[in-house]
Amino acid sequence: MAQLDEHCAAELRQLESQNLRRSLRVSARRAKSAVLIEHDGQKFVSFACNDYLGLRNHPKVTAAGTLTAAKFGAGAGASRLVTGNHPFYAPLEAQLAAMKGADAALVFGSGYLTNLGVIPALMQKGDVIFADKLVHACIIDAAQLSGARLIRFKHNDMAHLEALLKEHREESPNALIVTDHVFSMDGDVAPLEAIAALADEHDCWTMVDDAHGLGIVKSRVAIDIWMGTLSKSAGVYGGYVCGSRTLIDFLISTARSFVFSTGLPPALCASAIAALEVLDREPERGERALEHARRVTRALGLPPAQSAIVPIMFGTPEAALAASEKLKQRGLLAIAIRPPTVPAGTARLRLAFSAEHSDAQVNALIAALKKIL
Ligand SMILES: Cc1ncc(COP(=O)(O)O)c(C=O)c1O
Repeated sequence: MAQLDEHCAAELRQLESQNLRRSLRVSARRAKSAVLIEHDGQKFVSFACNDYLGLRNHPKVTAAGTLTAAKFGAGAGASRLVTGNHPFYAPLEAQLAAMKGADAALVFGSGYLTNLGVIPALMQKGDVIFADKLVHACIIDAAQLSGARLIRFKHNDMAHLEALLKEHREESPNALIVTDHVFSMDGDVAPLEAIAALADEHDCWTMVDDAHGLGIVKSRVAIDIWMGTLSKSAGVYGGYVCGSRTLIDFLISTARSFVFSTGLPPALCASAIAALEVLDREPERGERALEHARRVTRALGLPPAQSAIVPIMFGTPEAALAASEKLKQRGLLAIAIRPPTVPAGTARLRLAFSAEHSDAQVNALIAALKKIL
């Protein structure tokens, strides 16, 4: 034990010396506001949460969860294949499939678990996965778990993807091109039409992670596999995949993070159903979050925001941390994102906008950023 602690302490010292040690802070949010947060006991307006549509505390979303927990209990009781497939799954999956124009959907425990289940179920040793350089960590973990060969193409660079397809596609029976729709740390959008065209030409399957796009950035491009999360725009928790009926049937039997994990509690699914209904009926929520982001990029002379996420680049972890601290002194919370979450030399503040931010709150952020920058 002492040796284990010594090992961990040495690793921690190493992280600390690079400004890369992370620590947990208590963040409390009251139901009455989507964007006010108590972080380490201090009150802030948060530009750090992924609740883009402000649905986390929508009365219909919270009421659905509360009533359902009271009536159906707190937990699912077992994995979905045993006795955990409660009656809230079918309507939720029907909503998700309809939203993505797919035949069917399957809900997992989280977005991370979705990628970790879907990719290794489909791909194996001898296959090849082409992934954008900036895809989320759980796609990389899933690709590595699958045993398939992982080839990264330069971020959103279709000429590079095409060159790699020409060089490597023929070597494997099955090939998958995978990308984020909206990139979580950069806020830009993948060229899905071009990706789908290349996939068609080179006989590859396509998979898109829409974790940060739901309700904000729409796409009509035909993609084989859409996945996403219920924890960001939908304001609740859980992950999902949408595709053909046959794909979903296959995943029910083969995705290990689905088969061997307990189902989501009924209350979470009921809240997600309510959230997706609001999301569908009130598209202006997404437009408002996007408009806040665009106002900030205009004011700071940055390229126009493509989503509700705006990165402000600082380069070094120290500079990003210092900027985050200065915003905190003004009552504004924006988290410094450092390697390994982002590539070395690209530490940044990641700003995330919500439909629930007021114009005055966004103005205060702009004024503070202008001073800092
Ligand atoms: C692009 C992307 N995919 C997947 C996930 C994982 O989703 P979840 O938080 O539901 O596990 C995240 C979460 O940070 C993400 O940003």
